[in-house]
Amino acid sequence: MKDFHHEQMLSALSIAENARFLSPPNPMVGAVIVKEGQVIGKGFTHQPGKDHAEIDAIKNVYKHHQSRAKELLSGSSLYVTLEPCSSSGKTPACTETIIKEGISKVYFAVEDPLQNGNSVLTQAGITVQPGLLKKEALEMNRGFFSRVNRKRPFVTCKIACSTDGGIGLTTGDKKWITSKKSREDVHRLRANSDSIVTGIGTVLADNPKFTVRNKEFEDIGNLVHPKRYVLDSKLRLKGDEYLLNDGLETTIFCSKLRKVNYDQPPVNILEAPGEDGRGSLDEVMLHLNKLECNSLMIEAGQKINTSFISAEFIDELIFYIAPIKLGERKINFTEIESSFSNIGTIQLELMEKSNIGPDTKLITKPIYS
Ligand SMILES: NC(=O)c1ccc[n+]([C@@H]2O[C@H](COP(=O)([O-])OP(=O)(O)OC[C@H]3O[C@@H](n4cnc5c(N)ncnc54)[C@H](OP(=O)(O)O)[C@@H]3O)[C@@H](O)[C@H]2O)c1
Repeated sequence: MKDFHHEQMLSALSIAENARFLSPPNPMVGAVIVKEGQVIGKGFTHQPGKDHAEIDAIKNVYKHHQSRAKELLSGSSLYVTLEPCSSSGKTPACTETIIKEGISKVYFAVEDPLQNGNSVLTQAGITVQPGLLKKEALEMNRGFFSRVNRKRPFVTCKIACSTDGGIGLTTGDKKWITSKKSREDVHRLRANSDSIVTGIGTVLADNPKFTVRNKEFEDIGNLVHPKRYVLDSKLRLKGDEYLLNDGLETTIFCSKLRKVNYDQPPVNILEAPGEDGRGSLDEVMLHLNKLECNSLMIEAGQKINTSFISAEFIDELIFYIAPIKLGERKINFTEIESSFSNIGTIQLELMEKSNIGPDTKLITKPIYS
C-alpha cells in the first residue's frame, strides 16, 4: 500500500505545477481524491481568493460524477501537498469542506506554518497522515516557506560569466557573454521569480528590460514579469531607461527623495538609506516581505552581488559559464576573492551541473558558517 500512497502524492505534486503562475503569493498546491483505489478527483490552487487545491479537487469530483459525487466523497482519501487550511481568509477554511463531504483520510506532504488543519481534522475524527514526500513539497514552495519562516524571500543570484569569472569588461565594451540558450534559461528563472533586484551600475551600463520574453510564456501575459527594483542611492537614472518607460512596475530605492521627471506610477521611488550612504538591503528585504514576495532574483553587477553575498542573503547562486576568458580587463562577479567553489570564506556546494548549448550551468548553494 505504501507505493500506492507515494504514487498519489507524486501525482498531487505534479498537478500542483498548474498553480505555478496563478497562486503566488499563496503556495502552489495539488490534490488528488481517491475512493477504493480509483482517482475520483484532482485539483490545484487558483488565484488568491479563488479555490484552493482541495476545493478544486472536490468540485472536480462533482463535475465528473454528478449525482454519485456525494456518495463517492464519503469515506474517500485526500492526498494534498500542503496541510489543509483551517482558518477562513479570502476563502472559507478547506477543513470545513473536507469534514462536510465526509472525507475520512487526509495525507498531506508538509505542514503549513500558518494553519492548524491537522488538529482540526483529527478532532473531527479524520485520519491524518502528514509527511509523505515532505522534502519535495518543501522544495516546490521554498519561496513561500522562506517568506513565512524567515520573513524574507528565497534569493537566487544569477551570474553569466566567462571561465575566469568575468561578468563584463572594465573598458565598457559590450557583448553577450553567454549563449542564446543560456539567456533563454535566464528568462525561465525570471518567470519563476516574483521580483528582481539590480543596481544602478547595471542599468546605466546595459539598459536592461528584465522582462520574460520566451515564447513558452506568451500565453501567461503580464503575470509572468517580475516586479523590478533598482538600488540607486543618488537617483542617477536619467528617465529614458526601458525600466521606466515600458508600462510595467519598477521601484527605485534611493538614499534621499528628490524631484525627478519619472516619479509617476507604475514607477515608485522609495527611500531606503543604509549606513554607508548606499541602499539598505535590510530595508529592501523588509519591503519585499511586506509585499509578500516569495522569490527574489538578483541580476546585478559586482557591487550589488558583493553586498548581497556579504549580508548572507543569497540562498542560491546560478552560474552560466561561457567557454571564453575575459582576461585582465574583466570585471569579476564579486569584489570578494572568489571562484566557483567558494567566495572568500563562504563555501559553495554544487547542487547541479548541466550543459546549456556551449555553456555550463552550475547551481550552487552557499554554506554560511
Ligand atoms: N553578466 C552578468 O550576469 C551581469 C549582470 C548584471 C550586470 N553585469 C555587468 O556589471 C557591470 C556593472 O557592475 P556594477 O557593480 O557597477 O553595478 P551594480 O552592482 O548593478 O550597481 C552598483 C551600484 O548600485 C548602487 N548601490 C546602491 N545600494 C547599494 C548597495 N547596498 N550595495 C552595492 N551597491 C549599491 C551603487 O551606486 P550608488 O552609490 O550611486 O547608488 C553602486 O555603484 C556592468 O558591466 C554590467 O554589464 C553583468
